[in-house]
Amino acid sequence: MAEQLIIEGSSKTEKYQTLLPQTQALLAHESDQTAALANLCAALKMSFDWLWVGFYVVKNGELVLAPFQGPIACTRIPYGKGVCGTAWKENRTLLVPDVDAFPGHIACSSSARSEIVVPVHTIDGKVAAVLDVDSHQLNEFDEIDAHFLESIVTPLIRLFPNDTPYSNSISFV
Ligand code: SME
Repeated sequence: MAEQLIIEGSSKTEKYQTLLPQTQALLAHESDQTAALANLCAALKMSFDWLWVGFYVVKNGELVLAPFQGPIACTRIPYGKGVCGTAWKENRTLLVPDVDAFPGHIACSSSARSEIVVPVHTIDGKVAAVLDVDSHQLNEFDEIDAHFLESIVTPLIRLFPNDTPYSNSISFV
């Protein structure tokens, strides 16, 4: 039976500190990529009042929608496009305090105001997927979110083998 999450603390850091070991436990014994991504989305959406939490996985040279929680989203994002495609191309976490100020932002929901996108890596450092989180609020995300979300997705590395064609260096568009 699934366990309930126990998120404690008044600050964002304290909430993440209670969430992180629970997500590590959630992922520790799951070898199925979809199952792991789905439960991680649920854990994040339950813990924080965000608009949208989800994954896009690199498949055949584009990002394809994977498990998520929130409103219906665009299903495919080209390399280098939008915040997600840019995080993939640049292989780094992107903090977007105001989505309207990000050139090329892809608006899946008109309610989204700020966004963070965190790459998920293979063991050899290629981008295999991205975690995308959208908020109703401007300036929702900062370096604390970047730090903890990067830690939260780290265990996913074993679910994205090296020998599949992920890339962060080839332009497909
Ligand atoms: N805003 C993202 C697209 C994905 S949705 O927000 C779920 C982007 O610009 O890449």
